[in-house]
Amino acid sequence: MADVMENKLTSQQAIELEDKHGAHNYHPLPVVLDRGEGVFVWDVEGKRYFDFLSAYSAVNQGHCHPRIVKAMKDQAEKLCLTSRAFYNSVLGRYEKYITEYFSYDKVLPMNTGAEAVETAIKLCRKWAYEKKGVPSNAAKIIVCGENFHGRTTTIISFSSDPDSKGNFGPYTPGFVSIPYNDLNALRTELEDPNVAGFLVEPIQGEAGVNTPADDFIQLAAKACKEKNVLFIADEVQTGIARTGSLLAVCGNCSCENHCERQSTYARPDILILGKALSGGSYPVSAVLADDDVMMVIKPGEHGSTFGGNPIAGEVAIAALEVVRDENLAQNARRLGNIFRAEMRKLIEETDLVTLVRGRGLLNAIIVNDTPDSPTAWNICVELKNNGLLAKPTHGNIIRFAPPLVMTEDQLMECVNIIRKTILEHRK
Ligand SMILES: Cc1ncc(COP(=O)(O)O)c(C=O)c1O
Repeated sequence: MADVMENKLTSQQAIELEDKHGAHNYHPLPVVLDRGEGVFVWDVEGKRYFDFLSAYSAVNQGHCHPRIVKAMKDQAEKLCLTSRAFYNSVLGRYEKYITEYFSYDKVLPMNTGAEAVETAIKLCRKWAYEKKGVPSNAAKIIVCGENFHGRTTTIISFSSDPDSKGNFGPYTPGFVSIPYNDLNALRTELEDPNVAGFLVEPIQGEAGVNTPADDFIQLAAKACKEKNVLFIADEVQTGIARTGSLLAVCGNCSCENHCERQSTYARPDILILGKALSGGSYPVSAVLADDDVMMVIKPGEHGSTFGGNPIAGEVAIAALEVVRDENLAQNARRLGNIFRAEMRKLIEETDLVTLVRGRGLLNAIIVNDTPDSPTAWNICVELKNNGLLAKPTHGNIIRFAPPLVMTEDQLMECVNIIRKTILEHRK
């Protein structure tokens, strides 16, 4: 017990403690991380790794970014939490900052991604009853197969993943599912006048960086508009420069200042952000919408004790400033092109990898084996041994999502580690 309290554990001891005392709701790679800086993390024995997951795209700005840490420390020493029973001196400033940054009238601050998705669902339903005139309790939201929007009871009700859904019923009604990237199916469902919204990830991260046709999101947004249906973009994983533009719905624009000029921009009626909104330093999520939608929510109808707390506000401002000042979208776009080109070269040399896909620095390779085989997992263990951390998603797919502050030299070092590991892998 003394050792535990002194925090001097070996990796093995730390793993055993988690195994014995923690719920088994995750299956981590066997590495115990203790410290992080930029694109690197170190385990408790002091071994250094390239982080190629970035906490599922939360650490876009790199680990422990000094500007974000300073904002958090300064505010923590001043005022941490007031609840929304009172005003605080940061929230209004943060709300002005983020709404101007993303060009919306209003923001509703929450903490985790799943909470923000829940918020968007409630907002969409209320708008449907009070503005669109959908009969009481009849509102439907269209979602996509293989989606991942979190793991609350309502969200798993429209998941197609048996692991997150099985034995957690009864499920929340009011959702219809279409295949991802299927415009015809979307148009068919949009004929139903009770449809209130279309909730979609611009790229499906958890599903294995499932990347739709270039114009899918834009045409989907247009089809929704024509039917007075809210286009709701879940950019919890794709947003904040990850895919080489500020938002994945920006399409092929990589300007740092969010603008609505580019023709590829598919403006969501409701935009959901999380993860990198704090650079991974603190749980901060947000739902953005214009007054016509946001103002349907009245006092007492939605909230969270921690949502909009002063630390979150300062941290989010700093995190968004870093994205802009350090040109992270442009870096993600440039390095992403290099990364996929290198992976395509590797595919020429081996049968073990069949495809690379993604946008910006959200990419995945498909391993040539069945989803229930241990091959992708074993490759990730070998990558770890060679100094790079990544994780399989959906069995035979390995997602690669390094912090966006990576340099080209570092990226090439990582490409060499991946190359060597794949070429040396023996089934
Ligand atoms: C697209 C998307 N939405 C929502 C979530 C849920 O976010 P959180 O884990 O912060 O609740 C995730 C998490 O991976 C996600 O990728």
